Amino acid sequence: MVHLQKYFQEKNGVLYIEDVSSLELIKEFGSPLYVTSKKTLELNVDSYVNAFSNANFKVKFLYAVKANNNLTIMKLLKNRGFGADVFSDGELYLALIAGFERKYILFNGNSKSEEEIRMGIEAKVPFSVDSLDELKTISSIASEIGEEVKIAFRINPDIKPETHPKIATGLKTSKFGIPWKEVINAYKEAIKSPNIVVSGIHCHIGSQIIEIVPFVEALNRVFDVALEVEKLGVELQFLDIGGGLGIDYEGKGAPTPDDFANELIPVFEERSAELNSNPELWIEPGRSIVGNTTILLTKVNAVKKAYRNFVAVDAGFNLLLRPAMYGAYHRVVVANKMNEEAKEVYTIVGPICESGDILAEDRLLPKVEKGDIIAIFDTGAYGFSMSSQYNGRRRCAEVLVDGGRTYLIRERESYSDIVGKQIIPPNF
Ligand code: LLP
Repeated sequence: MVHLQKYFQEKNGVLYIEDVSSLELIKEFGSPLYVTSKKTLELNVDSYVNAFSNANFKVKFLYAVKANNNLTIMKLLKNRGFGADVFSDGELYLALIAGFERKYILFNGNSKSEEEIRMGIEAKVPFSVDSLDELKTISSIASEIGEEVKIAFRINPDIKPETHPKIATGLKTSKFGIPWKEVINAYKEAIKSPNIVVSGIHCHIGSQIIEIVPFVEALNRVFDVALEVEKLGVELQFLDIGGGLGIDYEGKGAPTPDDFANELIPVFEERSAELNSNPELWIEPGRSIVGNTTILLTKVNAVKKAYRNFVAVDAGFNLLLRPAMYGAYHRVVVANKMNEEAKEVYTIVGPICESGDILAEDRLLPKVEKGDIIAIFDTGAYGFSMSSQYNGRRRCAEVLVDGGRTYLIRERESYSDIVGKQIIPPNF
């Protein structure tokens, strides 16, 4: 039996999200469907807030918008006092609509265009700067507009956590940040640059990391750099350790925000005593805030015995890219056969015209039939936000469940969304 997290339960053989039946949701909103549990989101927020509540320094959480950019979810997080980590003009646009406090919207990114930089400066948000070229552009646009811009450099800490290589970001070989041993020269340059206010240090080592040691290592690197930066006469306002705490995709356990806090707080307290300034700790969680809040429900179009047992559903890598892209594992259940004995091994595939369109491989499930509903767990992070219209497929709807109530928080796309912004030249 697949492990179900709190707020997801089985009733009379049917999967419920809080107090709502998954089958009723499909009837009302159609398939496929992303369904988010509000109580799970609140639980995740509380775990972070409580875990760091005893720190003797200020901690600010900047939600990583890339994980899930649904505005209702962003607003709920903003209402709980979160800031935002944005990685593009579009994410900044959404964060502004959601109403995050601007001084806690950090504009991240390793390749920002002049247009994006201008938008960030006009919005008066701080920047994480990834290169000296970017520093020059920010300084020159800020001078032109007559604004002062708070910046941190993103350091590359040269740390190798245990995770998928595509989502480790602090490796020597990864494209992000400035090598931590060389970054002091960038800070010297920044101090001399017009309209630039050096405010912090930024670091992020990767995603889906299930050990705490690399975060402690990264925090120590940040402090090593902080000591040097302070010698330049800078008052540091924040030290940002990034996001990356992994979640329990396989039901085998994962570190909690408590584990994270228990290791990071003492290091922060001890090492900040070496500093003259009193920086805040910024953390940018994405996956560990939204990942386990959401399931993807998808209807079985066909079951086929070929060289393997295939279950063909109506969601594919157009809606959930992680299995195809990273070989990621997501738990699956048959939402209308929760009490039935698992008997056969199936591979669940989507409708996309590619052999790699596999959502779950070789899973032991009850006998699956056409019309059954499959639920794919832990799809709240990097699920919808990485979706596409490939193969001319409309993106599905998103629903939020709160106890017994449901809210449609994104409509299913229409065919005119498939046409999009295309223009057919006259006389063609
Ligand atoms: N801050 C920065 C600067 C980041 O680059 C990221 C994620 C985060 C925060 C949030 O990390 P989280 O807490 O969510 O692990 N699409 C991949 C994950 C890519 C993560 C990229 N950066 C996946 O589906 O696993």
